Amino acid sequence: MEFNVEKIREDFPILKRQVNGHPLIYLDNGATSQKPMQVIDAICDYYKNHNANVHRGIHKLSEESTMMYEEARKEIAQFINASPEEIIFTKNASESLNLVAKTYGEANIKNGDKIATTIMEHHSGYIPWVALAEKKGAKLDVLKVDGEGIIPESEYPKLEGAKIASIVHASNVLGTINPAREFGKIIHESGGKILIDGSQSVPHMKVDVKEMDCDFFAFTGHKMLGPTGIGVLYGKKELLEEMPPFLYGGDMVADAKLNSFKWAEVPHKFEAGTPNVAGVIGLGEAARYLKNVGMDKVRNHELSLLSYAMEKLGAVEGLTIYGPKEAEKRTGVIAFNIEGISSIDLSSFLDEYGIALRSGYHCAQPLHEELKILPSARASFALYNTKAEIDSLVPRIEEVKKALS
Ligand code: ALA
Repeated sequence: MEFNVEKIREDFPILKRQVNGHPLIYLDNGATSQKPMQVIDAICDYYKNHNANVHRGIHKLSEESTMMYEEARKEIAQFINASPEEIIFTKNASESLNLVAKTYGEANIKNGDKIATTIMEHHSGYIPWVALAEKKGAKLDVLKVDGEGIIPESEYPKLEGAKIASIVHASNVLGTINPAREFGKIIHESGGKILIDGSQSVPHMKVDVKEMDCDFFAFTGHKMLGPTGIGVLYGKKELLEEMPPFLYGGDMVADAKLNSFKWAEVPHKFEAGTPNVAGVIGLGEAARYLKNVGMDKVRNHELSLLSYAMEKLGAVEGLTIYGPKEAEKRTGVIAFNIEGISSIDLSSFLDEYGIALRSGYHCAQPLHEELKILPSARASFALYNTKAEIDSLVPRIEEVKKALS
């Protein structure tokens, strides 16, 4: 099927909205993506026609709900080339990342051990390990970036001997795509494990966890056209089996006695309580939607938007783009600052014209401090954005410059 952005846009009702009297130009996909009708309909259909609790009732609706929930797990597993029992549903990527720190980390990190991470982590991939290192007396070794926001090879030895590394696949600020497989090889040589945060990569490029050979891979639903409140943790089955549970309660036990219990098989061992059934079904539909478009086509489209935007924004005087100069080394995220203009003022001004951008630290304050840069403005693309939207953005930025400088 040929990639047709106008046809794709028709699936997203919100893109027809006017904001402050202007057609919405939504460039805040790094924060959350918009949802196609297929996802909205799947959630409505579930509540209208099938709603019941899963894995519990011996009645028709519960059987249907369970079947839909487990079918969605298969769809999501297939989307990243995993097995269904390696897919754990959480409430978001932060919970997935914390789950690893709280279970694998708590059980395996000892005083004096090394934990590796990078300066470009989102707080959710960073703070759980700062907290664990402090609690256990472990050492946190942080891989730094060069002037282009790329981790230079001279930093790679920091991965050696780490018990675990928490590494973002694609930075939500710089767009930098990290060599996850290569990092994994280094970690594995000394018996360590690697946790990848794929929140900003899964919606934008093909991800294959087997090929990457990562031990854990976390991502969220709402950035990949799915609903909020649903996240995913992939883990290698043998690791998930040996880890202690995260939360205790219903659905995660196979047998409960007065003073003891036996936990359920993976993945249910990590899914205590009634899950977000509608969220899982919506996310399954989002994965199906992206699969039908084709992730290579999504990546190519976003890459061409990215190159175009980098060229147009790069030509604005006083505007600095952060991250790799070559588009191929990054995802469709452009964080920037304009000399003399605060990113908050810029975003507020653009909002008057219906243009949605994010500004601030983007939950990556250590990165901004390391680069010695102010909180930044960020345009981030999805498969439904167009070059025409970038053509509308650039003159508005020029207007802001005139008005505010
Ligand atoms: N992590 C999201 C972002 O980068 C919220 O905007």
